[in-house]
Amino acid sequence: LENGLARTPPMGWMPFERFRCVTDCVKFPRDCISERLFMRTADLLVSEGYAAAGYEYLIIDDCWMEKERNRITNELMPDRERFPSGLSHLSAYVSQLLITILFSVLVSACQIHNKSLKFGLYHDVGARTCMHLGPGAKGFHAIDAKTFAKWNVDYVKLDGCYVQGIDLNKAYPAFGQALNKTGRPMVYSCSWPYYQNHPNFELIKKHCNLWRFADDIRDSIASVARIMLKYYRMQQNLTKHAGPGSWNDPDMLVLGNFHLSYDASRMQLALWAVLAAPLIMSNDLQTVRPEIRALLQNRAIIEVDQDPLGIPGQCVLISNSIQVWLRPVMPTNNIGLRSFAVAFANVGNHEECPLCPLTFTIVLQDLGFTNQMGYTVYDLFDSKHILGLFKPKDEFTVRINP
Ligand code: GLA
Repeated sequence: LENGLARTPPMGWMPFERFRCVTDCVKFPRDCISERLFMRTADLLVSEGYAAAGYEYLIIDDCWMEKERNRITNELMPDRERFPSGLSHLSAYVSQLLITILFSVLVSACQIHNKSLKFGLYHDVGARTCMHLGPGAKGFHAIDAKTFAKWNVDYVKLDGCYVQGIDLNKAYPAFGQALNKTGRPMVYSCSWPYYQNHPNFELIKKHCNLWRFADDIRDSIASVARIMLKYYRMQQNLTKHAGPGSWNDPDMLVLGNFHLSYDASRMQLALWAVLAAPLIMSNDLQTVRPEIRALLQNRAIIEVDQDPLGIPGQCVLISNSIQVWLRPVMPTNNIGLRSFAVAFANVGNHEECPLCPLTFTIVLQDLGFTNQMGYTVYDLFDSKHILGLFKPKDEFTVRINP
């Protein structure tokens, strides 16, 4: 969507995978979907360094609404017990938190850049939201878009449950136009293709800044691998339509929760960066272990994700348990040859040794590396570590944990 927003994939935090739809704040005060959770997370995004690393959108997912609209104005209302201060107050709280980003302009000069956290909100294009707790946008596009603008919302996730009798190819563009009419810039995240058998990506790309195409992610390596496989099956179509302003969304980052090992966490992060995916974490920032926090804030990998060329990667080779994913990135050299980000994944189904670390060797030109001057290879998990200069005919060997 050419609305000037999401020129690189959006980064931020969203509660759904981790906190689901817990509404009982008496029994579960730390876990319930409430303004306390969002204020706590906003503070942690800043104090723990996530915001400075680029995670700027704090997005409320489902289960924030009262069951019905305001009887007089028809406006949506946040649950009054869990969001007693209202959403204008919450968005003001979020956007007054300043992120100070230091970046070097020249080797000697440093620029300080202040920006604020941004505020996102979930809604549904149908009759009810997916958890069925609140009303959907059906019949109320203009009112809801205006309400979001009034609350200073910066990002809207529009789900697609309870859509009987609704043509998604009309309803998603219509809600987008209602957002546009408010005059307030809002990133528009659509679940549109996920709910269709034959999505029209040309149309979707025209109307949405990002779109879901696979099942809801779960906190497991199997779920991450399933989404990678779905992407692989659709990659010709998916990569054709993604670029600045329009991104494929393989769903949230689940690093920092219960079930991904350190290596599985590396895999999800590296893959999402190579896919040019939005980096929207769903975890409890208070309990993320230091080594996972360091991964989530790895500047070199974030730079791949946020690469200004905006060319999404593809799986270019599958050999037994090893997958090789490749993305062209900056810098390009003086004759236009590109650099590449390469992710090697060992998805753990090797026929002889499914759970072993594996050694993998490839001749660089077999991956399409043609620059005769060669390539300086860095391990981005340890960006100070230069692995050497490799020419197209050279072999490159990696050892990959399962
Ligand atoms: C759907 C979406 C999820 C989440 C839930 C909330 O399943 O795909 O990302 O928003 O609804 O109910």
